[in-house]
Amino acid sequence: MSDNHGRVINFGAGPSALPLSVLEEAQKGLLNFSGTGIGIAEVSHRSKEFTAFVDQVEKNIRTLLDVPPTHRILLTQGGGTAQFSVVVLNLLARHRLLHPTATPEETTLDYVVTGSWSKKAAEEARRLTAGHATVRTVVDARVYSKDGQSFDNVPPHAEFRFSARPALVHYCENETVDGVEFAHDAQSPAAFPFDRLLETAGAGGGALVPLVADYSSSFLCRPIPRLADHAVIYAGAQKNLGPAGLAILIVREDCIVDVDAAARLGAPPVPLILSYKQLADHGSLYNTPSVFAIYVAGLVLERMKASGGLLYYEAVNKRKAQKLYAVIHEGEQKGLFRRKVQQGSESWMNVVFEVLGEGSENKFLEGAEQEGMKGLKGHRSVGGIRVSLYNAITEPEVDKLIAFMTHFMKESSSKSEVNAV
Ligand SMILES: Cc1ncc(COP(=O)(O)O)c(C=O)c1O
Repeated sequence: MSDNHGRVINFGAGPSALPLSVLEEAQKGLLNFSGTGIGIAEVSHRSKEFTAFVDQVEKNIRTLLDVPPTHRILLTQGGGTAQFSVVVLNLLARHRLLHPTATPEETTLDYVVTGSWSKKAAEEARRLTAGHATVRTVVDARVYSKDGQSFDNVPPHAEFRFSARPALVHYCENETVDGVEFAHDAQSPAAFPFDRLLETAGAGGGALVPLVADYSSSFLCRPIPRLADHAVIYAGAQKNLGPAGLAILIVREDCIVDVDAAARLGAPPVPLILSYKQLADHGSLYNTPSVFAIYVAGLVLERMKASGGLLYYEAVNKRKAQKLYAVIHEGEQKGLFRRKVQQGSESWMNVVFEVLGEGSENKFLEGAEQEGMKGLKGHRSVGGIRVSLYNAITEPEVDKLIAFMTHFMKESSSKSEVNAV
């Protein structure tokens, strides 16, 4: 049995847990990558061993997610925040090439706002496009929340108002901070309204709607619904895939455009390092990439393949989330816990709830830490508890947390009974 090196269970939201077997393998790679005699942090990104490794990373992502040949897989630097800007610049260029005379009012960018990250993405788009384009809010989920100000739901489909010919439509599949996620069951009212979007924004070619998804915190936790209907999917690696510093892009061919030609027509200039075309033309190796992060991600992908692929992860992740929500529900019945997100819109990856009663949250966090479980404090803007259940968190680890929560409920209930006497 392998030694766990004194590691605790890390339920943190990101950077987050990685599989122990991968970390152990990475230790070896740090000393000698792929038989080169050179460690992975020292090896040239142009070496044949590393370029072959990058090819395999792309192939594995393609296989695991069943990415069609219409889409390229690109590896780049920066996390989700960088991609908020990158996607705006590239798709504004695409729009300018398609509609060279469009006015700023006719150049619309649609943002679906269901949580803190999509809100931030929309704010960045507004900042970048001032004078060039109009950023619209398709829907703001806070309007449909229980208290009128929180992100706790996916709004009803009838409330989504898409533009007719947008330069992009952006949504965040899983809101890491708020714990709100689009349902993957196409029949669910909390699924993304793909058909509604294609009907409205598809005027002029349904297949070419520039739909963009931030998959940073749910990438590779299960298959992506309607992947082929997306123009761009981006994800920072540091949740399910590897260390921070790497972002994965899945980009439809028609969105890989000549940004300089677009700039000549009046689109904002795009730094070459941020151009999808530049990345694609150089096989993701235009400049020095985040070599180590790619290496660890590659090891994670190999492990995923060997474990049975995304259907395996989907089944395990579903069980993990369901059993955790069940115990929170039990706590709700007892007046001890309160879930933050409305039923149907809850995330599989980030489970957010409150522990009721003065000082109870700290008691919960301290108790969990004593049992070797860390990273459970909610995001500072939301408070409460957040349990991140990324792929590297095993089912027995979730069971351990559930056992702790059950014990915590029992203790809290018996104390309140004593106080009531
Ligand atoms: C959904 C989502 N989008 C974007 C980001 C920003 O990522 P980064 O901090 O890597 O820029 C995060 C970070 O947690 C995220 O969870």
